[in-house]
Amino acid sequence: MLRRPRRNRKSAVIRGMIEETRLSTKDFMYPLFLLEGKNKKVEVDSMPGIYRFSQDNMRAEIEQCLELGVKSFDIFPVVAEKYKDKEATYSYDPDFFYLKALRELKEEFPEACIMTDVAMDPYSVDGHDGLVDEDGKILNDESLEILGSMALAQAETGIDIIGPSDMMDGRVEFIREVLDESGYEDTSIMSYSAKYASAFYGPFRDALDSAPKFGDKKTYQMDPANLREAMIEAELDEEEGADFLMVKPALAYLDVIKLLRDNFDVPIAAYNVSGEYAMVKAAAQKGWIDGERAMMESLLSIKRAGAKVILTYFAKEAAQILKG
Ligand code: PBG
Repeated sequence: MLRRPRRNRKSAVIRGMIEETRLSTKDFMYPLFLLEGKNKKVEVDSMPGIYRFSQDNMRAEIEQCLELGVKSFDIFPVVAEKYKDKEATYSYDPDFFYLKALRELKEEFPEACIMTDVAMDPYSVDGHDGLVDEDGKILNDESLEILGSMALAQAETGIDIIGPSDMMDGRVEFIREVLDESGYEDTSIMSYSAKYASAFYGPFRDALDSAPKFGDKKTYQMDPANLREAMIEAELDEEEGADFLMVKPALAYLDVIKLLRDNFDVPIAAYNVSGEYAMVKAAAQKGWIDGERAMMESLLSIKRAGAKVILTYFAKEAAQILKG
């Protein structure tokens, strides 16, 4: 035998030298759930180790993460039912606790990168990402105005990246124009470009109490059967001015991450979603898998597939391991 690939695996040092993919805490963006009020820290039942924090406790969490080298955060608000209406007007209300918290957190941690979420579902009595008409149809162009107002209100707080997760057509261009007209040309857009109608968002909807009140999201989120369609979405978002293209979920869609990585020069992000987190945690709690190793292997695989940025609930835990 002239060729013996095992020679390159014979020691930890050699394996380390030839390692093709290396995780870094710089790759991670950590999603956080914000509660109204003070002194609250409530675990999400279906996401062991993940909490909904009031602003004071979120500050402490961000501080710990920064020390570990995790510097990017995607903050989602938990919105009480009383604030919800059909038009998601609370999302850009000047008294909205989320907007106040974003401003204060960004002032307190200027070195952190903060992303926000643009979609109507947490604010809508219908629980859909767009405006719903009397027949239950999710309207596209009418939703854009609302998404634009929401994005502008978030940009005004000084955050770094707007994350449209709604999958309405034309929203990146619409939001880009709204931001630019108001002088926010430096606010970035990370578009949820290939976002699939997935079963893996369940625990997130528990965390925010944002599940659709009727029907499903299949007329706007993508069909899990489709790969080529992701190219159409990504091309449009790139043309419309997106700074990052995101694939979501991550693990069941590594081929989509790879396809976009091979075809676009803007950085690709992948969202390792709530259900993917919950599966690893649940199996580990039962002693069925080694949770730590499964976590690191999942994150590595997402990066190997071509993701530059990984949004993951594992960010803090993985950073602790990477730190040694
Ligand atoms: C809201 C939104 C969702 C997620 C991120 N933004 C849920 C959905 O589209 O139903 C899911 C994140 C996760 O599961 O971790 N549009």
